[in-house]
Amino acid sequence: MKIIAIMGSPKGKGSGYKIVKMIEDRMIAMGSVEFEYIFLKDANLKPCIGCYNCMARGEDKCPLKDDRAAIEQKLLASDGFILSSPVYMGSVSGLMKNFIDRFAYLSHRPRFHRQKMLAVVNTSITGKKGTLSTLKIALGHDRGTRIVHELAIATPPWSQTERAVAEKEQAINVAAKKFYLSCLDTSLPSPTFNSYMDFLVMQKFSLECRQYMPADYTFYNGKVYYFDMKVNPIKAAAAKAIVGIYIYMMKDMGPGNVSWPATKKEEK
Ligand SMILES: Cc1cc2nc3c(=O)[nH]c(=O)nc-3n(C[C@H](O)[C@H](O)[C@H](O)COP(=O)(O)O)c2cc1C
Repeated sequence: MKIIAIMGSPKGKGSGYKIVKMIEDRMIAMGSVEFEYIFLKDANLKPCIGCYNCMARGEDKCPLKDDRAAIEQKLLASDGFILSSPVYMGSVSGLMKNFIDRFAYLSHRPRFHRQKMLAVVNTSITGKKGTLSTLKIALGHDRGTRIVHELAIATPPWSQTERAVAEKEQAINVAAKKFYLSCLDTSLPSPTFNSYMDFLVMQKFSLECRQYMPADYTFYNGKVYYFDMKVNPIKAAAAKAIVGIYIYMMKDMGPGNVSWPATKKEEK
């Protein structure tokens, strides 16, 4: 089993690394497991420049020449991945935020359907929930990848009580076991009704916005779901009816004929 651990601390081997290492040790004790660490502080991943090319025209149109595509290939070849970040001002570290931004196109065009994900947050005290929720929208998990488990551990710079340490050890054991067992299953997930509806909404928007988001249009055009599968016709009809109402209610979010704010040309 191959696991990629994406490490978001600028310290590299700080408290977050120690936690992920404990998970690795426990998983290795369960079976044949190989970990590969990608320390974002050392990775060749440039800051997102906000050109929106990856989203609109395709990730191959990203002007930044670095290891983004190679990292995606590593993740695709894995059975699961860990995203580890310390809490910085209530959210992920800047390094992890850039990592998430550089793969933002996956929220439009998800592809990690077989891989499992474990989100690991460490903090002195606060910000566990908010940081986990940011990690959980990374890499298109909401549309494809299944979150298996989340782990938030306090790592304050002072010694802790025996009970607090026992609770952390127990939480790490549970996370490692759950993650290991889920990574053994390499089958494609059965779509839930909600994820199917979500797919249909994205497909419809990609059609409406094809002029602005051609990469999405190409991705969704002609698909029944993100991957080949049989859809129960009754479920499909129910989902399409609900999505039709939803799209109607959201019609002001789609393209119209007023450009706003005014373009540079119109301002003159
Ligand atoms: C810039 C910065 C911001 C931080 N913000 C928070 C915070 O909002 N809440 C908190 O409890 N700890 C905060 N911390 C503490 C770190 O989350 C904590 O030291 C963590 O264990 C560091 O993990 P690492 O050793 O893996 O880098 C902050 C630390 C830094 C350097």
